[in-house]
Amino acid sequence: MSEGYSHDPVLADEVVDLLKPSAGTWIDGTLGGGGHAELLLGAHPELVLIGVDQDPEAIEAAAARLDGYADRVTLVEGNFRDVAEIAASRSEVGTVQGALLDLGVSSHQLDRQARGFSFRRSTPLDMRMGGTTDGRRTAADLLNEEAEAELGRIFREFGEERKWRRLAKEVVKRRASARFETSDDLVAACTTVLGSGLSAGTKARLFQALRIAVNDELAALQEVLPALRDKLASGGRLAVISYHSLEDRIVKNAFRDWSKACVCPPELPVCRCRGVPLGTTMTRKPIRPSDREVQRNPRARSARLRGWQRA
Ligand SMILES: C[S@@+](CC[C@H](N)C(=O)[O-])C[C@H]1O[C@@H](n2cnc3c(N)ncnc32)[C@H](O)[C@@H]1O
Repeated sequence: MSEGYSHDPVLADEVVDLLKPSAGTWIDGTLGGGGHAELLLGAHPELVLIGVDQDPEAIEAAAARLDGYADRVTLVEGNFRDVAEIAASRSEVGTVQGALLDLGVSSHQLDRQARGFSFRRSTPLDMRMGGTTDGRRTAADLLNEEAEAELGRIFREFGEERKWRRLAKEVVKRRASARFETSDDLVAACTTVLGSGLSAGTKARLFQALRIAVNDELAALQEVLPALRDKLASGGRLAVISYHSLEDRIVKNAFRDWSKACVCPPELPVCRCRGVPLGTTMTRKPIRPSDREVQRNPRARSARLRGWQRA
């Protein structure tokens, strides 16, 4: 396995219990180091997997880890929001039996300073999950170029920061004299606005807000969920692990809506929509990691797993 990729996939047993790996085609939309993919492939000898990740380093690590399953795995470097086209380009894929998304960044991405995800000192403000060639703007570009109103929106919506207005103003003031380049520049702006007691948790939240914006993460999630749902065979299962409340809310609401018989606006006297649920939510409450898992792998602490099954 490549250096830096966690050996233990998050909520490993819980994912297998929920998904019940079976013969047929499965999609892992967030391959990372291939940890969950290996679990799925190991759980059923006739399971065939399409693994997607936008990060070329992840594809390389997963290829090495899944070498023993090469005849049952197709690896695709791409964004999961394009999953419908990715599946369509493989004519052998009709419907799929199951799919998994383990959202966010991998431990490898977080630990590699050059990728610029962390607020450790002197980290370049990059944060592009697709690496240096994916054509997106870096976190530094956003801080140096975006209008104050847009920066405010990022801190408010994605960072749930009360002082979003002042923080955006501070960024714009600072960049007039020196460009934002490293984590130190953003931490300094946050410290001016939020005080010297700026906690690690708050820094993580504000850096994460920027990462969500750089990678357009919430829009990608909104797009991939119905695309995966529509690929599922009858009885097929979809599981999603999210790591913060914005992601979890999107997943929870999608699963709830798909599980309702009627989604007509309340003012319509007669149901004119599909009139039947598309499937069932398998997890009324999200599944959380055990204390033991969090002790072993602190990055699992915010994980929430939800599952949905197609009718
Ligand atoms: C938490 S890691 C997955 C770890 C993996 N489940 C394992 O067990 O090794 C998340 C991965 O999803 C990828 N990712 C996040 N958003 C993506 C997107 N929109 N499209 C494709 N890959 C994405 C990241 O590049 C990262 O490698």
